[in-house]
Amino acid sequence: MRCELLSDEEFFCVHKIMKTLEWKDNRLRLLDQTQLPHEEVYLELGSYQEVASAIREMRVRGAPALGVAAAYGLALGARSIKAASKEDFLDQLARVADELAATRPTAVNLSWALTRMKRIAAVASNIPSIKAVLLKEAQLIEAEDVEANRRLGRLGSDLVEDGATILTHCNAGSLATAGYGTALGVIRAAWEQGKRVHVFVPETRPLLQGARLTAWELSQEGIPVTLITDSMAGHFLSRGAIDCVIVGADRIARNGDVANKIGTYTQAVLAAESGVPFYVAAPTSTVDLALASGEEIPIEERRPEEVTHFAGRAIAPNGIKAANPAFDVTPHQYITAIITEKGVVREPYAERLPKL
Ligand code: MRU
Repeated sequence: MRCELLSDEEFFCVHKIMKTLEWKDNRLRLLDQTQLPHEEVYLELGSYQEVASAIREMRVRGAPALGVAAAYGLALGARSIKAASKEDFLDQLARVADELAATRPTAVNLSWALTRMKRIAAVASNIPSIKAVLLKEAQLIEAEDVEANRRLGRLGSDLVEDGATILTHCNAGSLATAGYGTALGVIRAAWEQGKRVHVFVPETRPLLQGARLTAWELSQEGIPVTLITDSMAGHFLSRGAIDCVIVGADRIARNGDVANKIGTYTQAVLAAESGVPFYVAAPTSTVDLALASGEEIPIEERRPEEVTHFAGRAIAPNGIKAANPAFDVTPHQYITAIITEKGVVREPYAERLPKL
């Protein structure tokens, strides 16, 4: 395939994909996703505290991108640690990792990346080499993520028919990863193969990742998009307008239950009711074998103002109580298949996911 012949730089250029994040001049350079689609602003972060704030404020978001950002955050944190011994250094590093991990609790890629970074630090011989290996490891995590997405995109594209209309949710694209995307990676791969696809994009309240990010990202590549409100999904599914649903994931439990952006569960039930296949695309770094089922997945509760306000303006009575869970859990029985870089997995997930 063409993407295998291109270097990362050529690939991003050919596909007109913005770099979500990159390490440049000893800083983490991030595309500020809160400014999209109207402005393409890059932030240059030089401390782990700045990275933690950028994650909390959703300037970078999407499970795999959070893992990569946190890894670079830890590499930056390591640079500012002053310690007399390796043991003291590792203690302080663990505290920085805890702070970064607490920024967004649902996406497991964050703690997965930080655990991997701490493990590599522990085996390095001295403090200067810990700092060096941490940066190398963060760069490796970034490169592996792009590669995993390209692979799962290719595998998943076999499930997409020529002429298919696909419903997605939130943004599981290049912006949500180090590059290429998961759910949008599958769509992108099908498009590259010449399949004529059309993507229905729910706006994704409250923060509008669908309207602001997915609609923008797909339009950049000329992939046909129809924007809908979240509540229209059932209408289009029931009328036979959708051939398959493809979404990303923030955490997949051992039994195949999937946490993803709030509203995913509703789509899955509606898809099952309408006889439409429902696919989840995610790298294996999103699979959390330590959790037996989705009931154990922590769900991030965000500020009520994200619901009571729209584009900075109040849309509800002052003082009204609002709930704001950022994710929901789709039980495995609604999921036709989970597309990973190591293969497409179907039921029984509890048996097949650990084998990956
Ligand atoms: O709150 P967000 O924007 O970080 O939520 C993102 C999602 O729910 C994505 O679908 C998920 O992280 C998969 S990204 C490849």
